[in-house]
Amino acid sequence: MPPGTFRIAVIPGDGIGQEVIPNGLRVLDRLADRSGGQLAFAFESFPWGCAHYERTGRMMDADGLDRLSSFDAIYFGAVGWPGVPDHVSLWGLRLAICQGFDQYACIRPVLLLPGITSPLRDATAATIDWVVVRENSEGEYAGIGGRNLAGRGQASEVAVQAALFTEAGCERIIRYAFALARTRTRRKVTSVTKSNAQQYGMTLWDEVFTRVSTEYPDIETESWLVDAMAARFVLRPETLDVVVASNLFGDILSDLGSALAGSMGIAASANLDPERRRPSMFEPVHGSAPDIAGQGIANPIAAIWSAALMLEHLGLGEEAAAIMRAIGATTAAGVLTPDLGGTATTRDVTDAILEHL
Ligand code: NAI
Ligand code: MG
Repeated sequence: MPPGTFRIAVIPGDGIGQEVIPNGLRVLDRLADRSGGQLAFAFESFPWGCAHYERTGRMMDADGLDRLSSFDAIYFGAVGWPGVPDHVSLWGLRLAICQGFDQYACIRPVLLLPGITSPLRDATAATIDWVVVRENSEGEYAGIGGRNLAGRGQASEVAVQAALFTEAGCERIIRYAFALARTRTRRKVTSVTKSNAQQYGMTLWDEVFTRVSTEYPDIETESWLVDAMAARFVLRPETLDVVVASNLFGDILSDLGSALAGSMGIAASANLDPERRRPSMFEPVHGSAPDIAGQGIANPIAAIWSAALMLEHLGLGEEAAAIMRAIGATTAAGVLTPDLGGTATTRDVTDAILEHL
C-alpha cells in the first residue's frame, strides 16, 4: 500500500445505511482522485447487520472487533430492521463496537446549513451552531441490570436497568468538552444533568464538572437540568456552544438539535477514542429509516458530513473543510432531498456535492 493510504472499515448496515454509505465513499474516492497520488483510501466492507443476523444468528462475526482493530477508522451506516428486536441489533453491532473499542466521546455538531429552513422562526447560521458531546461508554447505556421473577405469575416480572457513572468516565468526557471549547469562538461549556432526581450518579458528574472547570478559567461554564435544557435548545439556541451530557441525555438532545437544524438526514457524528488506542467510528446520527429505505431518497448529507469528521480525525483538516464547503454550496443551491422539502434523490445530492468539490 502506498504511503498516505488510510485503511477504512466500511459497515453500511441496514436500510438506508446501504444507500447513504456508498455515496459517502464516492466523495472520499473523489478526494483521493484529485489529490495527485498524495492521498488514498483502502476500503474493506463488512456485511454485518440484521440480514447477517438472520443468516448467522450474529450481528457481526465473533472475531469482528479483532478484525476491525487494525483499521485507521470505521465508517458506519445504521443498524436496525423490522424482525430483529432493536436492542439485539443495537447491542450486537453499534454498541458492541463503541463499547468494545472504548470510543467514549460521541461528537455531534449541530449547524444550520445555508439554504435550509429551521423549524425555529428566527434561526440563522449564527444562532444554530453548537456541538453535543455525549458520554458514549457508560451512563444509562452501561447495560447493567436484568429481568427476573416472571415465574411469580402474571404481571409480576421485574426489570432493573442501572446507570453507571464513574469518576474517571465523567472526567474524561468533561475534559474532552473543555478542550473542544478552546477550539471554538464562543468558548463555553454547558453541562447537562438531572441531579435533583438522579442524586448519586449525576451529582458525581456535577462535582467532577466543577472540579475540572477550575482548570479552564478561560472557558465560560454552566450546569443545567436536562428538562430545562430541552426548552432552551428551542428558545435560546444562540446561547449554546459545547453541550456535554450523559449517554442518554446526549442521545436525546442531539436528535432535538438535528431537528432544529432542519432534519435527521443531515446530523453527523463521531464516536471517538481520543487517545487513539483503537479505531474511532464515524456514522450518521439517524437510523435505518425503514419507512423510506429502498426509494433512493435518503439524505446522504449526514453520512457525507460524518466522512468529513473522519477525515478531520485522520489529520486531513483541509479535505474535511472542502467537503463541508461542498455540502454548504449544495444546500445553498437548493439541491435537497424530500426530508428538507426538496425533490432531489440521494444520488442527485451526492452528484452536486461532487461537482462543488
Ligand atoms: P430513523 O433515524 O431511522 O428515522 C426517523 C425518521 O427520520 C424517519 O421518518 C426517517 O425516514 C427519517 N430519516 C432518518 N434518516 C433520514 C435520512 N438520511 N434522510 C431522510 N430522512 C431520514 O429512526 P427510527 O425510525 O426510530 O429507527 C429505525 C431503525 O433504526 C430502528 O431499528 C432503530 O433501532 C434503528 N436506529 C439505529 C441507529 C444507529 O444505527 N445508530 C440510530 C437510531 C435508530
Ligand atoms: Mg439517537
